[in-house]
Amino acid sequence: MDCRKDFPILGERPRGRRLVYLDTTATSLRPRQVVDAVVEFYHKYNANIHRGKYWLSEVASDLYDEAHKAVARFLGASDWREVVFTRNTTESINLVAHSLGKMLRLGPGDEIVTTVSEHHSNMVPWQVLAQETGATLKYIPVHPDGTLNLSEAAKLITPKTKIVAFQHVSNVTGTVHPVQELVELAKRAGAFTVVDGAQSAPHLPVNVRELGVDFYAISAHKMLGPTGVGALWGRRELLEEMPPFITGGDMISRVTLKGATWNVLPWKFEAGTSNIAGGIGFKAAVEYLENLGMERVLAHEKEILEYARERLRKVPKLTLYGPEPQKRLAILPFNVEGMHPHTVAKLLDERGICVRSGCHCAQPLSEAMGVPQGTVRASFYIYNTKEDVDQLAEALEEIARKA
Ligand code: ALA
Repeated sequence: MDCRKDFPILGERPRGRRLVYLDTTATSLRPRQVVDAVVEFYHKYNANIHRGKYWLSEVASDLYDEAHKAVARFLGASDWREVVFTRNTTESINLVAHSLGKMLRLGPGDEIVTTVSEHHSNMVPWQVLAQETGATLKYIPVHPDGTLNLSEAAKLITPKTKIVAFQHVSNVTGTVHPVQELVELAKRAGAFTVVDGAQSAPHLPVNVRELGVDFYAISAHKMLGPTGVGALWGRRELLEEMPPFITGGDMISRVTLKGATWNVLPWKFEAGTSNIAGGIGFKAAVEYLENLGMERVLAHEKEILEYARERLRKVPKLTLYGPEPQKRLAILPFNVEGMHPHTVAKLLDERGICVRSGCHCAQPLSEAMGVPQGTVRASFYIYNTKEDVDQLAEALEEIARKA
């Protein structure tokens, strides 16, 4: 994919070595176009939104609204007012846990179902909601390769289930979970679905209406955008009915000393001054990906995945985890025999290679996979090449020889 020229950081030489960035799953790099959009906002249109009657504020407001429209288009939403900007996926899921939990008046006897595979951000909010309301939290187990045990899912999702929360793609193994099958089970039980799309939206075409989900959460920083901005897409009638999450300025319609009424969507869920520059950068990121084409992005990653698996399989003392290539994206966790994952990551860093090590904010999944100390994780994106894979494989061969 001919896009490396758009990422100036790839010309840097950390520790004097060619930079190999294999930690997109933690946060992606940003192309020049995204950084330029953010800088342009501060240089040319800096103003608060939805408040000023002057030109600058009107331009800033329009740009920020346009950003919601771009994200809505990217996710296949029919109505841009169904897209709420948040700080990140974590905040989006907390918003749903808080506001949907209240709307449903959850209590003892109600059940929430999530999976053992979740990132902590789609597990802890449900643990807290269950503790606060007396509802019961249940977990769909995983097979040793990180795929979900669907026959157990069918038993766990019952008419008592009110919410089914799950990730689209695992941030540890890259497993693409069967969203439509889970949605089917949830619908049959009359439960709402909340999907963590942090690792899917950056890598494959997503259409929330075709998926049939009720909520879908994403982060800009995993998909070329700035940090500190994310989005929640939700079905309009649910967002209309749910109470607000955070209260204050901009999310109100009218305030008296007795109380307040709420602004229209999406502003009802965007209290206070938003991350305006971040939102504008998010739009640039979405447009960058749309120009590449998400089918092409996916095809590129699949090719890199195949190549990396072949190459790493030949490295002595290396164990690769996760399912077969058809069921996953280009996220590869592994361990080197006799070495702690953090040690391997430090040795790779000495060779200019950035990977993450440990449990990747998914400790229960590491336990379930039989690797409580975690793994080393290499994750690939549009700017990675076969040369990056070769540099990783050669470094690991050298590390394994010395282990
Ligand atoms: N969720 C991010 C990761 O998997 C931080 O690394």
